[in-house]
Amino acid sequence: MALAINNPTNSVAWKKLEAHFEEIKNLSMKEMFSSDSARAEKFHIEWNDFIVDYSKNKITQETIDLLLELANEIGLKKAIEGYFSGEIINQTENRAVLHTALRATENEKVYVEGKNIVPEIFEVKKSIEVFTNEIVEGKRKGFTGKSFTDVVNIGIGGSDLGPAMIVEGLQYYKNHLNVHFVSNVDGDHVNEVLKKINPETTLFVIVSKTFTTQETLSNAETIREWFLQEAKLEDVAKHFVAVSTNIKNVTEFGIAKENIFPMWDWVGGRFSLWSAVGLSISLSVGYDNFNKLLKGANKMDNHFKEAPFEDNIPVILAMLSIWYNNFFNAETEAIIPYTQYLQKLAPYLQQGIMESNGKSVGRDGKLVNYQTGTIIWGEPGTNSQHAFFQLIHQGTKLIPTDFIGFKKSLHGNKGHHDKLMSNFFAQTEALLMGKNENKVREELNEAGMSSERADYLLPFKVFQGDKPTNTLLIDKLSPESLGALVALYEHKIFVQGIVWNIFSYDQWGVELGKQLANSILTELNDKKINTHDSSTNFLLRKYIS
Ligand code: F6P
Repeated sequence: MALAINNPTNSVAWKKLEAHFEEIKNLSMKEMFSSDSARAEKFHIEWNDFIVDYSKNKITQETIDLLLELANEIGLKKAIEGYFSGEIINQTENRAVLHTALRATENEKVYVEGKNIVPEIFEVKKSIEVFTNEIVEGKRKGFTGKSFTDVVNIGIGGSDLGPAMIVEGLQYYKNHLNVHFVSNVDGDHVNEVLKKINPETTLFVIVSKTFTTQETLSNAETIREWFLQEAKLEDVAKHFVAVSTNIKNVTEFGIAKENIFPMWDWVGGRFSLWSAVGLSISLSVGYDNFNKLLKGANKMDNHFKEAPFEDNIPVILAMLSIWYNNFFNAETEAIIPYTQYLQKLAPYLQQGIMESNGKSVGRDGKLVNYQTGTIIWGEPGTNSQHAFFQLIHQGTKLIPTDFIGFKKSLHGNKGHHDKLMSNFFAQTEALLMGKNENKVREELNEAGMSSERADYLLPFKVFQGDKPTNTLLIDKLSPESLGALVALYEHKIFVQGIVWNIFSYDQWGVELGKQLANSILTELNDKKINTHDSSTNFLLRKYIS
């Protein structure tokens, strides 16, 4: 069944939210906390080893009630059922959206065109497991009989960002294999990776859902040429494997059928790390850990499917984000993990969130008359505190921020971890409470400042506070908790797309640039430049001169 078409701004709940916004927009969170000592008790969700405290938001109980009323009125429950049961919710590409089936348990049944796809998924999982074990245990050898020491993942977008983020994120759990990533068509990227590896001991995993992507095919060809300087054509079979839906193009590239890991068109590129696209994850941390990642995601799937909306983490976080995006006109959201391991989380989520919900046409084919997709950015704490936090604290923009922290450190250095986490807690407190004039004056007096100098400095040192944050406190960074965390954001994307009445699972907006780049490349080769606007013509002529 098709997704319902609902302009959210025409709903009763939206109108109530507009009126409610006028009533509470100037309320101070600080005051809400001082008048209600049970606020954190009220506005938090505990699930598994996750604590999500959303009390430091510009909300009252009525705000949450109205946001959930909106979710209900828009038909979110039914949409969630359609999402998990394989309905064609990617209507513009005529596909189901079933990355959740990739982490289903073996006894679950998920149907696509009347066929249960779970057995097929488990067959591919088995081949990932067998292949991983053979490489990790050194049973498969390279063309000179040596075991593999390095793996290069060649892919871009969803065929790079997810695996790269998880491989980095789960570094603590890694084995002896060194995993590298080549994504950019910039030849310097591939050449820098080639400097670090030995063709005799390197496995190349070409990941491309379509196997038509310029960047990936160019890098794969360059790498194959480099490899063939040392090896023979028949050695390619030992060193190159591919993950794709496009078996024909992969075979034409020269990869043997038995070296192809299939994927399916009902998995979107940016949601594909759970499929064989995650082969480099499995190679890096072992199949058991890869499977734990999937299990963690599956648990979050069940939570999302089953928990009532008021206790449902993805639903609450999605609706809060809509509150800021559509009522407070916040344009961006920051995501700050307090672990260096997750330094690639924000770039990964940028694709997930911005490629999915960066749409301006509603499901009715008409331009929307409200804001959709949020701009996502972030860097790990504490580094980000020394980079851009100034603007979050004292700038003119409202930037709702997710703080993600872990109770335990992996290497167990309590001294460091307590310092890290003190910063984690301090930042959300500072963003909430700020520092008022009295406090600043008191500090300046204590520092022995003249009253004249204190008067001058006072306005610069005041922090308004009242900046909204969500705190996600998780027991430990593990394959399971990371799987659940990523699935949480995937479902947040889904909820927002449903409410905003857009199609979250296509990405037509990336096509135009690709088409133009292809025609410009032909013109550069032919040295004939005159088909563009005057600026582009001017620049291209300068480039070739
Ligand atoms: O950027 C557009 C896009 O289609 C992404 O959605 C996708 O993840 C990426 O390109 C790579 O595509 P492929 O896996 O087909 O090479």
